[in-house]
Amino acid sequence: MSGSEMVSQGGYTQFAPAKINLYLHVTGKRDDGYHLLDSLMAFVDFGDIIEVSPAGSLSLVISGPFAAGLEAGPDNLVLKAASGLQKLAGVTYGASITLQKNLPVASGIGGGSADAAATLKALCKLWQISPNSNKLLELALELGADVPVCLSSTAVFVSGIGETLIPAETLPQVPMVLVNPGVAVSTPTVFKARLGAFSSANPFTNNKASFELLAELLAERNNDLMAPAISLAPEIGDALSLISSCQSNLLSRMSGTGATCFGLFSDQASAGAAAEKLQKLIPLWWVQETKLISQY
Ligand code: C5P
Repeated sequence: MSGSEMVSQGGYTQFAPAKINLYLHVTGKRDDGYHLLDSLMAFVDFGDIIEVSPAGSLSLVISGPFAAGLEAGPDNLVLKAASGLQKLAGVTYGASITLQKNLPVASGIGGGSADAAATLKALCKLWQISPNSNKLLELALELGADVPVCLSSTAVFVSGIGETLIPAETLPQVPMVLVNPGVAVSTPTVFKARLGAFSSANPFTNNKASFELLAELLAERNNDLMAPAISLAPEIGDALSLISSCQSNLLSRMSGTGATCFGLFSDQASAGAAAEKLQKLIPLWWVQETKLISQY
């Protein structure tokens, strides 16, 4: 059992960390409108928490600082994951599920995907089932393009529309600050706003790197959705400039389709100081000091 899971009073607690797109190239578009991607996805040591305990039917209660942004109805990804797993495994067991929502909603750091993946993992343990891994992956992909990555719990180079995962070498635990400038941008709208030629895939192998070398490798790559997202929500550009202006910042980028941005820092004390400075400067923004993790 890893540190990201715990048994509690007949139930299980599962960590659902934020995922970060360290870079994201849009390499093409399929006939069905989905975009082909090349992205290095990793995690940070901050996230939501899913708890499951035995019950006759499925239910969900949401708590935490971002609970207000979410409905606990059947459209919630957590309940969709749970009922999808019931069907897949052919079981009728229920579960009381609680979601502690610490991550801003619809913000490019995969909160909903992380919650769905954590629900699948926790319920497999609670219900003592081991579904076929390909079928589980299919269910994950149906729930959302980022759910398979969260299910893998390992930093990966992602291609296809999010279904092809190649594990990355262990990445350095680079100190980070996450900043969400309080604007929600819609994923399909950002994809639609992307114009121009597609990028090439550009995964790298030399990632047993120092913090500085990792930042250099990422600086040679882009988030192709950053410019379209900034055109829809200029606050994202403000967040990136402010992160870059902090001492010992190595790189600033947007994650996913935004609006959350991240900064990499050369040491944890500087990340802490930057987080404090940014939060004081703009109290309404969500600012979180953390660090990169490759596995959980
Ligand atoms: O699958 P997910 O819910 O993450 O995607 C939301 C929307 O984002 C999709 O309906 C699609 O419009 C867009 N998208 C895309 N290409 C991807 C992932 C998502 O165009 N690879």
